[in-house]
Amino acid sequence: MSNKPKVLVARKTFDDIVDRLRPHFDVECNEGEGAWTQDELIARLQGKAGVYITGTEKIDAKLLDACPELRVVCSMAVGYNNVDVPACTQRGVLLTNAPDVLTETTADFGFALMMATARRITESEHFLRRGEWKSWSVTMFAGADVHGATLGILGMGRIGQAIARRGALGFGMKVIYHNRSRLAAEQEAPLGARWVEKDELLQQADHLVLVLPYSPSSHHAIGERELKLMKPTATLTNVARGGIVDDAALARALKAGTIAAAGLDVFEGEPSVHPELLTVPNVVLTPHIASASIPTRRAMASLAVDNLIAVLSGGKPLTPVNP
Ligand code: DGY
Repeated sequence: MSNKPKVLVARKTFDDIVDRLRPHFDVECNEGEGAWTQDELIARLQGKAGVYITGTEKIDAKLLDACPELRVVCSMAVGYNNVDVPACTQRGVLLTNAPDVLTETTADFGFALMMATARRITESEHFLRRGEWKSWSVTMFAGADVHGATLGILGMGRIGQAIARRGALGFGMKVIYHNRSRLAAEQEAPLGARWVEKDELLQQADHLVLVLPYSPSSHHAIGERELKLMKPTATLTNVARGGIVDDAALARALKAGTIAAAGLDVFEGEPSVHPELLTVPNVVLTPHIASASIPTRRAMASLAVDNLIAVLSGGKPLTPVNP
């Protein structure tokens, strides 16, 4: 019997990165492609001191009470709305996440999704694949310009600022944003970014990108009222979290022409997608892959592994959520 602490890797990940845990711990891994059920996760966590999770494992008070030996939860995601942070803190369980390493990759994807939405890329590709392209026409799939347009960003954290940089410096966009706190003047100046009230953001943006964290206060931050404030020519892109947008209201708005189009990488209740969204043509849908480049997913996994090793070796967490 080994005396090494036991850890659980709850989702299949890069073998060579997981192997870095083995000199320190007894490691049990999920080798399947899918997530375990909550009951199976709890059963597998018995006797484990640490767990490596992604954004899909639910760490709540019930799980923590059922797993009293658990000391640290290391997530490879930056968002941690799947973890009850106060419940962890009350029980002395440390939580770490993976900020920074995915910022630029997620911003690349947010910008790409916004462009695909504005320029109707998937809608026109589906048309072509269906064999419906019979002749070139002046207005066929004519969309909105991105360059020179007004980019509205809701949530101006690291990823929001990285998207703003792409827009302002690469595409000559005018940047407006809404966030709980304003950026410092020296951060706003190079981007020409201007803080505005949320309603003004909705009214002015040609392309609105959501990059705010999910919390009860951001639940349905974009619903029927907010969509009605937007321009009928505007696009909405969500690379933040499902639940920030009321998907039913969005599907109605897309059908009614309240806004022109949407690009969604995240959904309420994912992996289920609101059935109405699947029937509207003017929406680009992707399965929560904004951070999914191989180097970035490796960096996220690596940071979670480093956190697990640091904490269970008696060191300080590298990226703590509840220090
Ligand atoms: C994150 O890191 O929060 C991404 O959304 C992947 O879950």
